[in-house]
Amino acid sequence: MKKITIAIDGFSSCGKSTMAKDLAHEIGYIYVDSGAMYRAVTLYALRNGLFLNGEIAKDDLEQRIPNIKITFKLDPNTSRPITYLNGENVENEIRTMEVSSHVSVVAALGFVREAMVRLQQEMGKDKGIVMDGRDIGTTVFPDAELKIFVTASPEVRAQRRFDELKAKGQESSFESILQNVKERDNIDMNRAVSPLRKADDALLLDNSNLTIAEQKIWLKEQFDRIVNS
Ligand code: DC
Repeated sequence: MKKITIAIDGFSSCGKSTMAKDLAHEIGYIYVDSGAMYRAVTLYALRNGLFLNGEIAKDDLEQRIPNIKITFKLDPNTSRPITYLNGENVENEIRTMEVSSHVSVVAALGFVREAMVRLQQEMGKDKGIVMDGRDIGTTVFPDAELKIFVTASPEVRAQRRFDELKAKGQESSFESILQNVKERDNIDMNRAVSPLRKADDALLLDNSNLTIAEQKIWLKEQFDRIVNS
């Protein structure tokens, strides 16, 4: 069966990663969460004191980019990828509210995007990959055979993030999460480099009223349609 490239883009906390991971597992493809890469760079910047009063020390970060190594390994128990920053498992730390509230600034930097896009294209050079993010169908893999653009209302997405953090014991108010979701939408859509937008040839999926099981079936149908065409 022919191997294809699958690009899944969309707003934050709209369930992209869950559907991308599940599909990759089902069809035996590599899964890459590109957001985890921007989060890992953000964690590096926070740990190294590169944020001062919310401002990022751009020049300093640019010089250090070659020292930031991001890799993924499959968790043997869950078959899900774990993000490593310079050899350290940072999967939990990159999902905290502190990282979430600083990541958009880092993801808007041109030199960060160039470095991450290069790495992402290298990971996908042999196809057989599902990658989720914001610019996968527009910039990273403009020739991807299957492109999906996922969306859901800000309230639905904030509730999902709230439930996710609660399950991990990281309590946070719904209002602050909703505000973070809206702020990130705004920055992601309005940044100068690779703003979040639907590729012209991407399929639109609004999953506000879909269950995880329903969207999983829909996505597998799209995959089957492309590989059997
Ligand atoms: O999907 P996520 O919430 O983990 O993404 C974290 C941040 O990284 C988000 O603010 C947008 C940014 N991002 C991006 O700019 N480009 C990508 N391909 C993936 C994520």
